[in-house]
Formats: sequence, structure tokens, C-alpha cells
Amino acid sequence: MSLKNELIQIKDLEYSEGVDLTSYTTFRLRSIGDLLVVKSILALQNALEILNKHNREYLVIGWGANQILPPVCDKIIMNLDFEFDKNYFSEKRDEYNLPASLGLNHLTAHAVKFGLKGWEVFTGIPASLGGAIFMNAGTNLGEIGALVKSVEVMNSKGVIREEFINEKSFGYRKNHFVKSGEIIISAKLRHLGVDDSISQKIKDYMEYRRSTQPLSSKNCGCVFKNPLPGFQAGRLIDSLGLKDLRVGNLKISSKHANFMENLGEATWEDFSILVKTIQDHMDKFYGLKFELEVKIPYDL
Ligand code: EPU
Repeated sequence: MSLKNELIQIKDLEYSEGVDLTSYTTFRLRSIGDLLVVKSILALQNALEILNKHNREYLVIGWGANQILPPVCDKIIMNLDFEFDKNYFSEKRDEYNLPASLGLNHLTAHAVKFGLKGWEVFTGIPASLGGAIFMNAGTNLGEIGALVKSVEVMNSKGVIREEFINEKSFGYRKNHFVKSGEIIISAKLRHLGVDDSISQKIKDYMEYRRSTQPLSSKNCGCVFKNPLPGFQAGRLIDSLGLKDLRVGNLKISSKHANFMENLGEATWEDFSILVKTIQDHMDKFYGLKFELEVKIPYDL
């Protein structure tokens, strides 16, 4: 039986081939490929068995806010959409057991309501919980890794294990425990108590982001990691006068130099040229190696 015929028989799963994936990343570079939407743990296990049998690779994509897809995607794009009853957030808990597909915005809203200390660190990050944990997403206030107690990951054979988090589990914008082919399916989060000032802190931080980042543009978040503690990529790019530099339909944002704005139909080539231009400048003028924070499908 073909891969498609096998997949479409599985409950809680949607599969379509040759679809427009452009809207699956916030950057909106044009991409075409096969899409698998998975709505339950069991469906994920069944799907992985079939994908393995047919030797098809997959890439799990959350909100696609820090991800670039190639013009033609050979890996199957997998989007998790597990069921979750939002009433779970009607009361404050000591610990939260949450599906990987849940948007961080729901967590932020809950933190505002109950003043959960620690949860301000992911204010405004456009990500699913799984995506945020995978890359230890963070802001100037801290990183999500500090709040994670344990993570459930499923390997490519469908076997689930629980990873207990310790001080070695995360680094700057990365985790050290999800192995190749593994998928984060859920996580237990803690908070650091209740603090009445947290709601205001989150609101102020939202406003800070709105005023310093081009949030309404088509972008992929911060393009580069900050090269060293205290050395912000945006400030360094800005200092060389590179704001507004344009290649094709892509330009360095005038609001924040570590953002690129897709002005319309920007391409992978535009991105590649702009990234290399910035990296060359940073090497030449500051002797700094600029690494991408955004996830790319293959090397530039
Ligand atoms: N700055 C400039 N020019 C610019 C941009 C920034 O001079 O064009 C200066 C700012 O004035 C500020 C400093 O650089 O004094 C730092 O800027 P910002 O507060 O925006 O912080 P950042 O280090 O550039 C980090 C995260 C962002 C997160 C913000 C706000 C990284 C790579 N970036 O940016 O995360 O939103 O803090 O908390 O860690 C992302 O991960 O995709 C992302 C955007």
C-alpha cells in the first residue's frame, strides 16, 4: 500500500501531499511539500511506524516562528495538534502537565491571571511549548529551560521516555537530550511561586517587544544567536549601519537589526545572501563568528 493510503486510514491524523507550506512558518518563504497533522499520541505512534516502513524522514514544526523551510521540502512536515481542555487553566496548580502542541500564549495568559513567578521569561515568544523547550527559547528575562521539570519524548519507534531535567539538560538556545528522530510530546512545568507584580511585568515586557521588534512583519524572530554574553547581535549589526539593507524582497529591519522582514515574495537565496553579508561584516569588523538562531533546512 502507498504511504498516503496507509496514513489516511489512521484516526486523528490528516495527511496531504504537495501542499503549500508557506503559511507554516511566520517568515513565509515559499515552500511546497507533504504535511502530516497529528492529533493524538496513538496517531503519532502509528504514523511513525508507517513513515519508518517507507523510509520517509520528517521534521516536526511547531508555530514555525524560528524555522525556515526549503522551496521544495523532501521531509514530511509534521504538525502536532494534540487535544487539550483549556479549563485546565481555570485554577492555579503547583505543577502543570502540558501537551507539546500548546501555544505559549496560553501559558502567558495563565501567568498574568495568577501572577506565576518565572513564567514571564517566555513573554511574547510565538511558539508551541515543544518548540520552545526544544530550543530553550528565552528572552532577556531568562529561558524556559529553568521552568521545566521533565519532558516526555517519543523516539522514532514510538517508544515514550520521560527525561528528568537537570542543570546539564539545556544550553543557550538548545537542549542536550532530544536525540535525532525523537519528538517532544509533553512536559511538566513548575513555577517559582506567586508574585503580584508578575502580571504588570509581563504587560510591560509585551510593550517592550512591540516597541523594539517588527512584530507585525513576516519574520523569523531573531536570526542570529547573541555571539557572547553581553554582546547582542542586533546591536552589533546596527552599529555597522546595516539596518534597512535589502536583498531582493528581504531586508534587515529598521526596528531591530537582528530581524529580517520578508517584504513579499522573498526567497531562500535572498536569505542566504543577507545572512552571509552580515556574517562577513561581523568577522571582518569585530572578528566575531555569527551563528544562526533560526533553524534552516540545509547549510547555506
Ligand atoms: N539594539 C540596538 N539595535 C538594534 C537592536 C537592539 O542597539 O537594532 C540594542 C537594544 O537597544 C538593547 C540591546 O541591543 O540595548 C538588546 O536588544 P533586545 O533587548 O532587543 O535584546 P536582544 O538580545 O537583541 C533577545 C532575544 C529575543 C528577545 C529579546 C527581548 C536572542 C538572540 N534574542 O534579543 O529573542 O525577544 O531579547 O527579550 O536571544 C528570538 O529568540 O527569536 C528573539 C527575538
